[in-house]
Amino acid sequence: MNHEQHTIEQLRRSLNLSVTLNVLMALVMFLGIVVSLTDSWPKWEPENWFKSKGAPSPYSVENHETPDSMTLAVARKLTLWQGKNADYAPANDTGDLIRYGRDLIANTAAYLGPKGSVAHITNGLNCQNCHLDAGTRPWGNNYGAVASTYPKFRERSGTEEDLYKRVSDCMERSLNGKTLPPDSREMQAMMQYINWLGRDVPKNEVPNGTGIVALPFLTRAADPAKGKEIYAAKCASCHAPDGQGLLSPDGKTYAYPPLWGAHSYNIGAGLYRLSRFAGYVKYNMPFGATYQNPQLSDEECWDVAAFVNSQPRPGMDISADWPNLLGKPVDHPFGPFADSFSEKQHKFGPFQPIKDKIAALKQAK
Ligand code: HEC
Ligand code: HEC
Repeated sequence: MNHEQHTIEQLRRSLNLSVTLNVLMALVMFLGIVVSLTDSWPKWEPENWFKSKGAPSPYSVENHETPDSMTLAVARKLTLWQGKNADYAPANDTGDLIRYGRDLIANTAAYLGPKGSVAHITNGLNCQNCHLDAGTRPWGNNYGAVASTYPKFRERSGTEEDLYKRVSDCMERSLNGKTLPPDSREMQAMMQYINWLGRDVPKNEVPNGTGIVALPFLTRAADPAKGKEIYAAKCASCHAPDGQGLLSPDGKTYAYPPLWGAHSYNIGAGLYRLSRFAGYVKYNMPFGATYQNPQLSDEECWDVAAFVNSQPRPGMDISADWPNLLGKPVDHPFGPFADSFSEKQHKFGPFQPIKDKIAALKQAK
């Protein structure tokens, strides 16, 4: 064997070896695939055998298992409450009343506003302007916790309030109007609807995503001057530069509701408190914003709240509100107070020092 032949022979051998190695590796991979596939093959279990014959299995646990209350409670914590469409209420008289309640809440002004078909007792806003999607939207000031928590004690009145009292509050403050008799068809309809929405929520539970989000306090006072700029840039296109909104062509309801002035909510309304306004705006305004897709920073929400709530609006006798001073919210802008902070600080903040002081006073009691 000369030198050349020797090299060729060596090459041939190493080629053979690498072919053998390749074949071996392919075999190993093939076996791996087979093993992993068999994992998904049906198991030889009697249950599957029954299934393959199309017969019910005596071993099956399907439909025998219901999630325990713990699992349900955890699920509720992980998801945001969302109300059902009242179209799904029963197809009977009660269901019709519930749907009428939904319509009253969505289109209040058409029934009860200045040109309403039933009465003229409210300012032209709809409940839905503030309780979005008829009170069903996550973080849209929805009604998810109402059926489960009312009647309940409320500090604002210092009494145990039922749902009639709570709805009346919004009619007299947010709608700057008069309430309806408790047994009127309209009041019954709204209450039935709100209770129907929250019917699945266990007693005393407040589901995630109900009401208005509580934004962290700013460390400074909210600034109406900064808010004015935000208003011009982000709100005025719909709510109008003068804050008076835009009436619909039929002149009965607002396409864009007013934010201040004679037709807006009065000084006793929840939105007149900066934290409520800022939290409402955070996840709902400018219109189209949602909790998944907020459009303003927390700071911008506080500042625009300070601007809007510095504009003129209807008054109300609220001297009987918050009889227990220690139960007054830090952002209620009218004295007397349990602490010695000014009305101005109670209106614009900073709120944390007030909160700390109230906590200390409560502790000392
Ligand atoms: C201008 C805005 C506005 C309008 C209009 C309005 N509300 Fe409200 N409503 C509020 C605010 C703010 C709260 C308090 C939310 C909070 O503090 O978390 C509230 C609270 C409520 C609650 C109690 C919710 C709870 O979980 O405790 C009910 C019930 C309610 N409103 C019903 C109505 C009904 C019915 C109408 C129409 C007749 C109406 N509201 C119109 C702003 C409004
Ligand atoms: C694209 C139009 C649009 C823009 C921009 C917009 N809004 Fe609104 N706003 C609406 C509509 C529509 C409603 C009523 C929602 C409903 O009925 O479903 C509303 C309701 C409100 C309400 C509750 C009802 C009331 O009249 O008090 C407040 C408060 C509010 N908007 C504040 C703001 C603020 C603050 C901004 C700017 C950061 C803003 N909005 C920007 C369309 C808009």
